[in-house]
Amino acid sequence: MRDSCARDITYLRLSVTELCSFRCRYCMPEEGVPKRPHEEICSPEELVEITRQAVRCGVRKVRLTGGEPLVRRGILDICRGISALEGVEELCLTTNGAALPRLAGPLKEAGLNRLNISLDTLRPDRFAYMTRTGRLEDVLQGLKAAAGAGFTGTKMNVVLMKDFNDDEIPDFVDLARRFPLEVRFIELMPIGEGGNAQFLPAEAVLEACPDLRPAEGAGVARRYRPPGGRGLVGLIEPMSHRFCGECDRIRVTADGRLKPCLHSDQEIPLRGLTGEALRQAIAAGITAKPQRHHMTETGHSDAKRNMHQIGG
Ligand code: GTP
Ligand code: 5AD
Ligand code: SF4
Repeated sequence: MRDSCARDITYLRLSVTELCSFRCRYCMPEEGVPKRPHEEICSPEELVEITRQAVRCGVRKVRLTGGEPLVRRGILDICRGISALEGVEELCLTTNGAALPRLAGPLKEAGLNRLNISLDTLRPDRFAYMTRTGRLEDVLQGLKAAAGAGFTGTKMNVVLMKDFNDDEIPDFVDLARRFPLEVRFIELMPIGEGGNAQFLPAEAVLEACPDLRPAEGAGVARRYRPPGGRGLVGLIEPMSHRFCGECDRIRVTADGRLKPCLHSDQEIPLRGLTGEALRQAIAAGITAKPQRHHMTETGHSDAKRNMHQIGG
């Protein structure tokens, strides 16, 4: 269905947990986040019912997010339930990749169609510093496991940070040359733990790799092709080039609140609702979707939650 700005809302980002196995400095506090009582988080059945009603509102693509969705108990049941719903054309998941060696095969069998894997550095020491608890090797094995399980169309998300990974831009672009991957550089957003000091415009990628050639776009990313390469490079520029005008998504938090926009504090509680009442609440959220965010003017997001509580 269309929102009040005539945008067609077809994409649901469903967070399944606030927890994560990593503590990335721009996303999570060092001590992690308190585990909430079981009953405060939507059950697999509730997540499936929310998706069923969202499909009645026009949703065709679903992405499971977190926190880290692969630490959620029951993630395979959630995938099975949602992939079996009529009208869900694509079920995707965004992950830090560390659990993929164990879960890539079972996820494929549970009906998951596509993976996006976050990876901000290719240097083991930097990776350990940024994630505070992670090991680069696990994510690299995860990427291999995803390909081995038959996943295609995998994308890699790299959050650009000045004086952290800007010198690695050519190495990431090289991955897109050698492998059939889409490597996407994301501008750091001033949300939660993410500050402004390390912000680097994604344009820096084009300066570091002037041989990149424009390719056809898709979704929130501007796309480029490394000449002779097998993959693509994408730039996601929420700060420099606002894409709110083409936004096609809504979000639901792990505790069952609909967020019409990532960067607004507006939330619509969905828990306790089923069937037609739930459909109507989702439709009301779509109608109430704000026209755009104001981070570029104010320097901060209006969202009251951290990124790990929204799911990006
Ligand atoms: P595809 O389906 O592969 O196109 O994935 P996606 O880009 O929709 O999902 P992914 O979880 O990989 O998102 C990449 C990143 O883009 C997110 O983690 C955010 O950092 C950013 N992003 C996604 N959606 C929005 C949005 O609506 N607004 C802003 N400002 N940033 C977004
Ligand atoms: N700015 C940009 N991207 C962020 N992510 C988490 N926090 C931020 C932020 N402040 C990204 C992760 C991952 C995706 C789910 O969200 O790196 O790629
Ligand atoms: Fe976990 Fe992703 Fe946040 Fe890192 S950015 S702490 S991997 S949710």
